[in-house]
Amino acid sequence: MATAAQVKALVESHSLGDDARFRSVVLEIVENAARTGRTRYAQEVRALLDAARTGPAPGAASGAAARRPVSAVQPRGELARALTVVEPATRLADVALGSEVMGRLHRVLAEQRRAEALRARGFEPVRRLLLAGPPGTGKSLTAEALAGELLLPLYEVRLDALADLPAEEAGSRLRLVFDLLARSRGVYLFDDLDTLADPADRPGAGARETLRTFTALLEQDASDSVVVATSQRPQVLERWVLRRFDALLDYPLPTTGVVHEVVLRRLRGFDLSAVEWPRVASTASGLSHEEVSAAAQSAAKQAVLDGGRHVETTALLTALRERRQMLKMAP
Ligand SMILES: Nc1ncnc2c1ncn2[C@@H]1O[C@H](COP(=O)(O)OP(=O)(O)OP(=O)(O)O)[C@@H](O)[C@H]1O
Ligand SMILES: [Mg+2]
Repeated sequence: MATAAQVKALVESHSLGDDARFRSVVLEIVENAARTGRTRYAQEVRALLDAARTGPAPGAASGAAARRPVSAVQPRGELARALTVVEPATRLADVALGSEVMGRLHRVLAEQRRAEALRARGFEPVRRLLLAGPPGTGKSLTAEALAGELLLPLYEVRLDALADLPAEEAGSRLRLVFDLLARSRGVYLFDDLDTLADPADRPGAGARETLRTFTALLEQDASDSVVVATSQRPQVLERWVLRRFDALLDYPLPTTGVVHEVVLRRLRGFDLSAVEWPRVASTASGLSHEEVSAAAQSAAKQAVLDGGRHVETTALLTALRERRQMLKMAP
């Protein structure tokens, strides 16, 4: 049965029209039920949830999305070497995540949307996020989704390029980025902070000094832009780096419920009624969201080649096994 906290989260998400959070709480309840042997109940709730698979189409204008988007600055010259601008095409409902992290992301959105009210009472909205987890778990996708939800442009800062520069040059490039960040509200993605944090990766480079400049600029920044940094190995980030962020969000490999959600999102419009989900979940165990999504796409192509929109369990299982095989071959 649902816990008191889950019922509260259901009512809250329903009243806010927050479909993604509502779904992830229901999935949590389904998983608990399945784990404690209430298989039939789990299946019934799962089927109800699948039947209610609606939600706004990606990019659809509704509610908050009806507000006017902030237009992007087109970076030129030196700035264009430091970052690229992306038109966000994703919403949070397109990202399959566990209920805890989804709840925290919705909290970030709520604070951003009511930033003025918070500031009027002397509070700062959460805006410096560090997303940490294995490759392909949706960290970069989340930055894009936050930009999509807030109708802000997404700027991707090229940290890998910075790590190869002498520290002084990298520092002046970073200053340009933080100038823009203060001038033009957006979501700024500093992808793969580890490239600066672990000097073992780049002997001789001034990466650590660049990291120090980054954290100093982050600390000084008092803008209303949102900063999203990502890390695959947060253990290489020391305390003085972690301290600069308002929130650290954990991105683990997908649970069985989240595997299901990844497949549903990837295969919108396909007939999944015959899919044996428990077999899919156990074959997907240990794979990332990205790998599950790629396997789902491969099974969908098979369905199209077979002349329909009916996805077979065996096609999904084969594609998942192929992804696992590829992983084994990777160095
Ligand atoms: N949580 C998710 N829900 C749905 N699709 C996902 C999710 N995570 C990853 N994907 C799929 O995998 C692709 C790559 O994901 P993403 O770039 O966000 O991973 P990442 O966590 O940033 O990985 P890396 O650490 O390698 O940069 C996405 O564009 C999407 O197609
Ligand atoms: Mg990424």
